[in-house]
Amino acid sequence: MQCNWRPNQRLMRAVWLLLLLQLLLLQPDDSMAAKRQRRRRPKAHQVQLERHNREHHEKSLGDLQYEMMALRTKLKVKPSQSSVAHVQALRPSGVSTPRVQLGNAYNTEYFGTIQIGSKQKFKVLFDTASSNLWVPSRRCPASKCSSMQRYDSSLSSSYQANGTAFSIQYASRNNQDTILEGFLSTDTVTIAGLSIRGQTFAEITSLPPAVFSRANFDGIFGLGFREIAIGDVTPPMYTLIEQQLITQPTFSIYLNRNNTGTIDATSGGKLLLGPSDPTLYTGCLTYVPLSAVGYWQFTTASIQLGGEQNGTTLCSDCETIIDVGTSLIVTPLPVLRQINGLLGITEADKRDGVYTIPCSRVASLPSITFNIGRTDFTLSAANYVVQYQSTCVSGFTSLDDGSSELSDDRGTDYSNLWVLGDVFMGPFYLEFDLGYKRIGIAPKI
Ligand SMILES: *[C@@H]1O[C@H](CO)[C@@H](O)[C@H](O)[C@H]1NC(C)=O
Ligand SMILES: *[C@@H]1O[C@H](CO)[C@@H](O)[C@H](O)[C@H]1NC(C)=O
Ligand SMILES: *[C@@H]1O[C@H](CO)[C@@H](O)[C@H](O)[C@H]1NC(C)=O
Repeated sequence: MQCNWRPNQRLMRAVWLLLLLQLLLLQPDDSMAAKRQRRRRPKAHQVQLERHNREHHEKSLGDLQYEMMALRTKLKVKPSQSSVAHVQALRPSGVSTPRVQLGNAYNTEYFGTIQIGSKQKFKVLFDTASSNLWVPSRRCPASKCSSMQRYDSSLSSSYQANGTAFSIQYASRNNQDTILEGFLSTDTVTIAGLSIRGQTFAEITSLPPAVFSRANFDGIFGLGFREIAIGDVTPPMYTLIEQQLITQPTFSIYLNRNNTGTIDATSGGKLLLGPSDPTLYTGCLTYVPLSAVGYWQFTTASIQLGGEQNGTTLCSDCETIIDVGTSLIVTPLPVLRQINGLLGITEADKRDGVYTIPCSRVASLPSITFNIGRTDFTLSAANYVVQYQSTCVSGFTSLDDGSSELSDDRGTDYSNLWVLGDVFMGPFYLEFDLGYKRIGIAPKI
């Protein structure tokens, strides 16, 4: 079910930027005390193998549809090498796509539980702008990782040593880089009841406690492309596909927004592994091809604040990435100034790197429309303002504070990139297609 198909003209350079925006200082103080509630375990998928066999008979139609899409993709988009298998099968009715129930902390962090080895469970933040899995190591000193679950390889019979040194860096608030260090290990990683054998991940032995001590998760689960995986480690999604644990190389994200200013540990949203679930969105998915492979990056034809008649076009043919690991919408600095001007926000409203707005003004603020794949996707002010009880925060920010160049090790300038984080994703169902390198979007139910 697809609304559109639109080729992209610009194949952009791959960038190397990892984003993790946290509004840690905005979280209410009782968050520290908030119980590390264990989440409900996802449903087991014990019929997985049987399902594959049964689907074999029904495969031809599904294959054909997929092949036709593939053909169009090949004609219009420069093919890129990828080892992702194109596995497609009809979804038998009554069998649901494996899914992780997400927790939602303050509409800024979406996490779920995975298991490593036979019994060690971790809460991981899902991040589509990075491609590695890491969890804290037993060897991380308590002074740094005290509040987090730590992986102990000596407790796992499926552990395989690797030992290669690992370090990963995330861009964060106030332009400060966050560096984590550790080493690689291999073990069985179980997500949504699917056991990925021989998955290599990083055990972190050193991380900045200031950033993570108030986080509601232990580690990060990257859902980006292998092109941006650190240390050439095969990302877990790829291993999941290679081991044919899912029938289609796609995953989908559905986020709930919750303005109660609490942690919703079990019904914060869903991460679906495999085919999309049409009961979670209305109409059909609008697909947009990726303009660069690494992040989930595509060209947005236009972004407009305000109505069609008197709105302001903030950009045309802008490069945008979808990132569930980023809380807000990150814009280039000149655009942020323009948005703030239009919303009546001044520098005096700035607090901890974000801008507050009186909640009473939200109802009169204009909407913002993203034209993606020739379809308009609109956020109302209630969608783009993040509310914590009586505090309202503008959903727009910039990583650039104007004081330094925004570029990475390779000299790639990323100051023009927009990052569409959780604030953008809130009203939509998003399908991430690794096989055909595209994103599908539809209004969520
Ligand atoms: C460690 O993992 C990396 C990435 O998967 C791999 O390239 C390397 O060969 C592994 N090394 C050992 C000693 O297993
Ligand atoms: C918000 O989270 C709270 C705490 O878990 C939960 O009780 C409530 O139902 C959630 N509200 C919505 C609208 O999801
Ligand atoms: C723009 O148009 C909308 C509705 O068409 C109206 O409510 C709003 O006041 C207008 N804004 C300006 C600045 O003219």
